[in-house]
Amino acid sequence: MVITTTIVDSDENLNSTFASRYVRTPLPRFKMPANSMPKDAAYQVISDELMLDGNPRLNLASFVTTWMEPECNDLIMASINKNYVDMDEYPVTTELQNRCVNMIAHLFNAPVGDSETAVGVGTVGSSEAIMLAGLAFKRKWQNKRKAEGKPYDKPNIVTGANVQVCWEKFARYFEVELKEVKLTEGYYVMDPVKAAEMVDENTICVAAILGSTLTGEFEDVKLLNELLTKKNKETGWDTPIHVDAASGGFIAPFLWPDLEWDFRLPLVKSINVSGHKYGLVYAGVGWVVWRTKEDLPDELIFHINYLGSDQPTFTLNFSKGSSQIIAQYYQFIRLGFEGYKSIIENCLENARVLKDGLEKTGRFDIVSKDVGVPLVAFSLKDSSKHTVFEIAESLRRFGWIIPAYTMPADAQNIAVLRVVVREDFSRSLAERLVLHIEQVLKETDLLPSRVAVPAAHIAATVDKTRENMEGKKADKKSTRDIHEEIALYWRRLASGRRAGVC
Ligand SMILES: Cc1ncc(COP(=O)(O)O)c(C=O)c1O
Repeated sequence: MVITTTIVDSDENLNSTFASRYVRTPLPRFKMPANSMPKDAAYQVISDELMLDGNPRLNLASFVTTWMEPECNDLIMASINKNYVDMDEYPVTTELQNRCVNMIAHLFNAPVGDSETAVGVGTVGSSEAIMLAGLAFKRKWQNKRKAEGKPYDKPNIVTGANVQVCWEKFARYFEVELKEVKLTEGYYVMDPVKAAEMVDENTICVAAILGSTLTGEFEDVKLLNELLTKKNKETGWDTPIHVDAASGGFIAPFLWPDLEWDFRLPLVKSINVSGHKYGLVYAGVGWVVWRTKEDLPDELIFHINYLGSDQPTFTLNFSKGSSQIIAQYYQFIRLGFEGYKSIIENCLENARVLKDGLEKTGRFDIVSKDVGVPLVAFSLKDSSKHTVFEIAESLRRFGWIIPAYTMPADAQNIAVLRVVVREDFSRSLAERLVLHIEQVLKETDLLPSRVAVPAAHIAATVDKTRENMEGKKADKKSTRDIHEEIALYWRRLASGRRAGVC
């Protein structure tokens, strides 16, 4: 609605905020309003609407940080107006980024000499980091094939079917075939033996996950390294490994320092990690580190000079905020190794409290492992009458946001709930969540079953879905699409309620 009357400020100030015409009259939703409004009214209108979002601290679906110390919040606000890309203008911010890259490279045991600097870059998150790492592998492989006079138009990448969607994005956006190792019931990560078998001369790399999004489980990178070393020797190929350590990169070094998954393994050429997950920074920061500068083809680096000096950049976007980089540096020096270790230990302990409480109900199977990301993924022992989707839905009324989802294709009959334990999910919250789950179980038992379709029918639907998709599409259809259809099916079973997983 267009407001044409002019009211002098003094008149407007007489009204209570909620009785002022700016708050009382409807705002156009999809077109910019023709007139301005006072800043306090704009603030009120928006903050009122935002009240209907979930509470981030109770959002147990997400790995992403929802609490930081007030001192760091101050630093974030103080740098909110700095464009990170203006490196010549903000040289200290650039220097802090470089220090972070080096700290991470050392944490991951990169072979960086005392007088050398590590090769890596800050990104918006692990997704951008993965695109960059994937591009470097693709270009290196193409260059090698060209030099050998061999075709270089059919690159592929081998992963588990449990990969996060960003790998599918990489494959689709940058035209690389995604070869997924299938999961099986009871085994929800990439089997290194099958992965090595799937590798061929067109494989640009095998991507292993340190901390599967679905169950938090670490994949066996050491075994993968052994198998690929053997295969490379036999075939003369050079297949490298990338480790997607989005969550696990800030877990394993603190809790299981002897676990070999990083640059200690010779075939691991690059690693990504999310600063905004267990790096303990708010959303908007990730990192990718290469083993050596030979692993990042120079032609992917752009040099710009119009901002003052020669600046090498290797990112997908240009401008971005500086706050997250500064916040990451704050966490590194504020907490140090000791601080991260104690926070992650505490997360693991709280995950254990939750797991023990769930096991005591006798109603759940725990799908997550003790060694992995501190999360608890659990399925109902008996879902013939009620499903995990109903439990997720009922927990909403207490404020808990907990995703329920089915496993990817070939293990899709298993539906789980997943609680990610972050720094700010304290022991008392874990205990309270157990009480609420017990209450929900009791109440649900008294309700009539909403499950009308037997498991055999679900299996038939899965097969039908696969047939339809495979029949319809000439290009390789992703298992994720099949997964999506099945998840939709389950959601319908649960009266159309939402399921989500990040
Ligand atoms: C294993 C894994 N890789 C990549 C990503 C994407 O990370 P980001 O949200 O930092 O882009 C996630 C997100 O949950 C993940 O779990």
